[in-house]
Amino acid sequence: MAEPNDKQRVYIFDTTLRDGEQSPGCSMTVPEKLRMAEKLVELGVDIMEAGFPIASEGDFEAVRTISREMPDVRVAALARATRVDVERAAEALKPCRRPRIHTFIATSDIHLTYKLKKSRQQVLDDAVAAVRLARQYADDVEFSAEDATRTDPDYLEEISLAVVDAGATTVNLPDTVGFSVPHEHAQLIGRIARILGDRAIVSVHCHDDLGLATANSLAAVMAGARQIECTINGIGERAGNCALEEVVVAMKVRHDQLPCYTEIVTEHLFPASQLLSSIITFGPQPNKALVGANAFAHEAGIHQDGYLKNKSTYEIIDPMSVGVPEGRLVLGKHSGRHALKSKCTHLGHELTKDELDAVYSGFIAIADRKKGVTDQEILALITAMKAGEDTIKRDAAIAGD
Ligand code: KIV
Ligand code: ZN
Repeated sequence: MAEPNDKQRVYIFDTTLRDGEQSPGCSMTVPEKLRMAEKLVELGVDIMEAGFPIASEGDFEAVRTISREMPDVRVAALARATRVDVERAAEALKPCRRPRIHTFIATSDIHLTYKLKKSRQQVLDDAVAAVRLARQYADDVEFSAEDATRTDPDYLEEISLAVVDAGATTVNLPDTVGFSVPHEHAQLIGRIARILGDRAIVSVHCHDDLGLATANSLAAVMAGARQIECTINGIGERAGNCALEEVVVAMKVRHDQLPCYTEIVTEHLFPASQLLSSIITFGPQPNKALVGANAFAHEAGIHQDGYLKNKSTYEIIDPMSVGVPEGRLVLGKHSGRHALKSKCTHLGHELTKDELDAVYSGFIAIADRKKGVTDQEILALITAMKAGEDTIKRDAAIAGD
């Protein structure tokens, strides 16, 4: 990895195709991963983790294919801190001109005692050996201390220094179980960032078990982390990973408070989210920040009125800047005449006050019966009103059937 020459630049390490893909309902075939990888390139991610080659033939093939088809992309492959894993990752990355081997081992006492049954010294030795071996295949080697946030900070410091001495260029400190809270996370990341200085990039990888993945990642950046590991729509193990779109746009919109930046082309965020949703078995929840169906929808009458007078009253992000075609007014029973008039104009009908009154009464009749009035229903009301039918309410009933 090139040395960071700008202290405010944050690298985006996308793990949609690895951590994201390994969660229920998210598995992808090799061609699907390739399609998603093309979109991630357009989006401008800095590093793309394409899979865990030792885990399956499919993962090996995915890393291999993406490396072959996109040789200039910085592709990462995951490997436990063992010879067989590292060599398998290196093999899969062979066609890549900018390979990154990402090796990891757990460092918390909980994992050492119950999972690995190894001493701290043994884990440190395994980590150093894996990094040394990985460096024989790639100049760019990332080490992850799994469960870093539940690891004794003194030991985390010791192992971080040891892997950098062994050649690691990035040290990732995952909040594997989503346990950390922002101020505590900032303290831990800040401590490791200070001791490593310019010798390696400090990275974070936050899971969302307490709904704090974005907050923790941003707190870490403020403390000195310069790589964020994240996924489109926040998919990933259990409650998921930090959502790429959230951290990127937060740094952009609140640059006054978060004076860092990424090279993500934000106009591709919504299309990337949509593509992922069409490949896996679910999309983001409707109220998901930035990419959910309602993320830019205003329904309450007071909100719609303010929004129509000046968008800045209720909109902090221009939807177009994240690739959403336009902010949407969802008309429902809380919408006022002003919003309805604007919708009619949008649909190509400038209404007089009397015409609007007539359409409005039919609109309220529909909105009282069901949630949300569609554009088709509004058009039907306008047509009926213009055709001079008996009463707008009767036509509304017909349009609603
Ligand atoms: O959550 C985690 O700790 C991981 C590592 C393998 C980076 O996904
Ligand atoms: Zn993870």
